[in-house]
Amino acid sequence: MSNVRHFLDVDRLDSQTLRRILDRAVAIKAAFKKDRNAHADLLAGQTLALIFEKPSTRTRVSFEVGMRQLGGNVVVLKPDDMQLGRGETIGDTARVLSRFVDAVMVRTTGEERVHELAAHASIPIINGLTDQTHPCQIMADVMTFEEHRGPINGRVVAWTGDCNNVAVSWAHAAVRFDFEFRLACPARYGVPQALLDWAKAEGTGRLVVTDRPEEAVRGAECVITDAWASMHNTDVDERAAILTPYQVNEALMDRAHPDALFMHCLPAHRGEEVTDGVIDGRHSVVWDEAENRLHAQKAILAWCMGAKA
Ligand code: CP
Ligand code: NVA
Repeated sequence: MSNVRHFLDVDRLDSQTLRRILDRAVAIKAAFKKDRNAHADLLAGQTLALIFEKPSTRTRVSFEVGMRQLGGNVVVLKPDDMQLGRGETIGDTARVLSRFVDAVMVRTTGEERVHELAAHASIPIINGLTDQTHPCQIMADVMTFEEHRGPINGRVVAWTGDCNNVAVSWAHAAVRFDFEFRLACPARYGVPQALLDWAKAEGTGRLVVTDRPEEAVRGAECVITDAWASMHNTDVDERAAILTPYQVNEALMDRAHPDALFMHCLPAHRGEEVTDGVIDGRHSVVWDEAENRLHAQKAILAWCMGAKA
């Protein structure tokens, strides 16, 4: 078995490893706030390839800037720039990139593409979002929760919307970091039984499923939502019709814990899944959440590339 440190999904890593990565993210952030050059040599001489088969603002900029702040280099690749877009296999792409660079971050469609890349690479592969999961986002999100409210274990976090890639990674985090994650989703876009079975079998954390947002957020210390249509969804109008009652607005936030946080991975569609009043209001920590992508991913890169503190 390969001992390469891939960051493929939250459920594929153990709690201790995830906690170590988060602790390091906190330390990296604190050092960076004091001195922007605090870790300027951590990944000196290393190169990260970034493959984007879908658009990105945060993931692209945070990985590129983060890698440079650690002394490394990046190569950004889009399908049209690559032979991958003209039929070269993922396996061959993995073998070739392994000879040139030290790690690859990939944002793509089906998760099987990331797994195939990892199966054929001799360097770390990082999942920068698939149709199914978004693990780097959730590391930044847990970091943000803890920064504002302390340890997440035993706490209650609520999701309202479809059970999309971000929700699934949050569910993985609930198990690994041991907290209650309540999902309010319409039946049409509900929580897969396999995810519930997995969480139950793991025996830590708790997934609670409902189709009523007001039930999910009752007393919750964090309320989260995401765009009604993810990048790979084509049934945009149908989703809007079904998901409208799942909007996070002031009335819904009033039912949560009085000091509840509001999180959103962004990009937000103001007036759809969240109102201006909430995203710009006192509960919202979305800009800290976005910033923490930078710090959390630096820690992920350092872990993957085996960098010593
Ligand atoms: N949240 C997030 O991953 O944003 P981007 O799509 O802009 O990378
Ligand atoms: N669920 C969204 C997340 C974007 C960062 C999507 O996949 O489009």
